[in-house]
Amino acid sequence: MKILVTGGLGYIGSHTVYEVIRNGHQVVIIDNLSNTSKDVLGALNQLTGRELTFYEADILNMNHLTAIFEKEGPIDGVIHFAAKKSVNESLEKPAYYYDNNVAGVINLMKMIDRFGLKYFVFSSSCTVYGQPEIIPVSEETQIVKSPTPYGNSKIIAEMILEEYTKLKPGLSTVMLRYFNPVGAHETALIGELPIGIPSNLMPFITQTAAGWREQLKVFGNDYDTRDGTAIRDYIHVVDLADAHVKAIEWMVPQNDVVEVFNIGTGNGHTVLEVVHSFEKTTGMKLNYALVERRAGDIEQIWADTTKSEQILGWKANRTLDDMTLSAWRWQERLSKPK
Ligand code: NAD
Ligand code: WQD
Repeated sequence: MKILVTGGLGYIGSHTVYEVIRNGHQVVIIDNLSNTSKDVLGALNQLTGRELTFYEADILNMNHLTAIFEKEGPIDGVIHFAAKKSVNESLEKPAYYYDNNVAGVINLMKMIDRFGLKYFVFSSSCTVYGQPEIIPVSEETQIVKSPTPYGNSKIIAEMILEEYTKLKPGLSTVMLRYFNPVGAHETALIGELPIGIPSNLMPFITQTAAGWREQLKVFGNDYDTRDGTAIRDYIHVVDLADAHVKAIEWMVPQNDVVEVFNIGTGNGHTVLEVVHSFEKTTGMKLNYALVERRAGDIEQIWADTTKSEQILGWKANRTLDDMTLSAWRWQERLSKPK
């Protein structure tokens, strides 16, 4: 299959490009480099032993998108990662977030109207569940309006994609609700490149261990959990990448389906469990302090992955220790930004 990967030089996109190629498909990558660097293309070329097709282009630019679809000829499917993902930034720049994350999807729909395309995989998020009452969350769990434009952009995009797919004969769509993607490829050639001070836990841990940050602040130790710190379903980015291959291949024999799947491990870990796994796998001592809760954080969530296991035949198999160690191996290769 020939698969367009938008945001294919980003964190999850780059790991997915590798898995898609490894499974014998062709890729066309689009990225505007707003949250990554061209070096990732070099790393992917090295990993795959190929010269991958890459367009530095913005999905908001219809002329560029049209030119790419015209040049590349029939494209079978799209895996759509290109979006902005900072919850806090979305509160400062709501229009920018809705433009990238919702209008970006609409632009791809316009391309499908014009050029046709059979399979769509959309990057959604467990953020659509908010703080659920019953855990683990299944795909049937109620979606709740988010307190942030980022969260709402995912809910809106899911809604319009579902409707569009049902109205579009010949198109199938899978929406993957990722839990907390962490870690890096085992070669440490690709990984996460957070710009500025990370707000996510794993890059903050590795940057603290590397001496880029003085101390990790563990937000909240008075939650109703086994050690008082918040629980998330951390998932290794390579397992997550594999879910995209399974999703697109699953759609091939189906006719006009639209489905949503949780993509997590099915296990929750506390913040302190992540810290202790990091200390164990790396043999390092992490400087951390227990501080107040972070505003807006939920207490706990993890996925019920029964549906993705039974229907997609996908299951995460990497452990928390694999996640913390691979994240550190990747961190070790990075040089501190000036
Ligand atoms: P990322 O920022 O590393 O990757 C996104 C890529 O898209 C970047 O390379 C960026 O340069 C590119 N991009 C952004 N806007 C673009 C545009 N208008 N045109 C072309 N390229 C554009 O983020 P990621 O962590 O790899 O996330 C990928 C997707 O997964 C996003 O849709 C995100 O919302 C979703 N997601 C991420 C997480 C997470 O914790 N990382 C969790 C759930 C869902
Ligand atoms: C994980 C846990 C923090 C940093 C965010 C988005 C969500 C989704 C994934 C895209 C929490 C704690 C963190 C630190 C800490 N993204 N923490 N010290 O909050 O689950 O979700 O990313 O869709 O939309 O909101 O992830 O990595 O920020 O935090 O103690 O310095 O680590 O409080 O309990 P989160 P996270």
